[in-house]
Amino acid sequence: MRILVTGGCGFIGSHFVKRLVGAGDKVVVLDKLTYSGNVDNLEGVEHAFVQGDIADPGVVAVAAEGCDAVVNFAAESHVDRSILGAGEFIRTDVLGTHVLLEWARQAEVRLVQVSTDEVYGDVADGASREEDPLRPSSPYSASKAGGDLQVLAYVRTYGLDGLITRGANTYGPFQYPEKLIPLFVTNALDGEALPVYGDGRQRREWLHVEDHCAAIELALREGETGGIYNAGGEERDNLEVTQRILELTGADPNLVRHVEDRPGHDRRYCLDSSRLEALGWRRTRSFEDGIVETVAWYRDRRDWWEPIKSGESRRYYEQQYAARLAG
Ligand code: TYD
Repeated sequence: MRILVTGGCGFIGSHFVKRLVGAGDKVVVLDKLTYSGNVDNLEGVEHAFVQGDIADPGVVAVAAEGCDAVVNFAAESHVDRSILGAGEFIRTDVLGTHVLLEWARQAEVRLVQVSTDEVYGDVADGASREEDPLRPSSPYSASKAGGDLQVLAYVRTYGLDGLITRGANTYGPFQYPEKLIPLFVTNALDGEALPVYGDGRQRREWLHVEDHCAAIELALREGETGGIYNAGGEERDNLEVTQRILELTGADPNLVRHVEDRPGHDRRYCLDSSRLEALGWRRTRSFEDGIVETVAWYRDRRDWWEPIKSGESRRYYEQQYAARLAG
């Protein structure tokens, strides 16, 4: 197949591109190269590349020409950034998804929307199932829910061959150092503070990026039209994750700082993945193996993350954390 992968220079997207190329597919990457997109993530990987915005129909038409399917990874994805300003989230996650849907509808090709467990909002106990109501808490998760609902409407109204995957918190190599794991690992390696929001007892499911990509690939190849597929991980609270990072980096435990909580912070996510498991999906990496490997990768690849931390992310970091860490 010839597959359009939007956001293919980002964290999960770039792993997915490598996976498809390894499987013998032809890949066209469309990526706007915002702060978190990095062409180096695809170094040595055979693909066609178009730089541009999924919210621009002309760009999408050029990139998608001749493709048999589109997998949409392109998104603004960081909750804390969405709290500072949601405009770009609406443009990319809502309007961009609409533009891709319009293209897929007229070209009559499959569209896989890569979504998130965050659209369900927090769940006190039990696990979210695909038909549960959407109760997004942050501007980010509301923008992703907007994308999901459009996909379902296009399936129902136009008979589009669309489907959705909803993955848990993903981690692994090449993740931009703003999300919990890469931020704390790189801060620990640099002897900088680890800013834990509130009591740190919020719970997330952690999913290795390769297992997440396997889930999306399975949905692409074998999922049913209109299907929604949860892909969960291993549940930990943030302090447990932080503790393991301290142990693996050998950093001083006094680097941990409890800081002002995130507004609207979801306490817990948990997914029921039985629908995807019925298609044959199984996680292959335990959290323990995955975190050991990931910490080792960041230790070895300072060449990858140091330029990021001294550039764009430094400004963001100050805006997000300076007052919290001073308080
Ligand atoms: P994050 O990686 O931003 O993912 P999400 O908000 O999409 O789940 O955050 C994971 C958890 O870690 C979440 O409960 C917020 C918490 N967190 C901190 O305590 N401190 C931080 O600096 C960050 C980035 C996250």
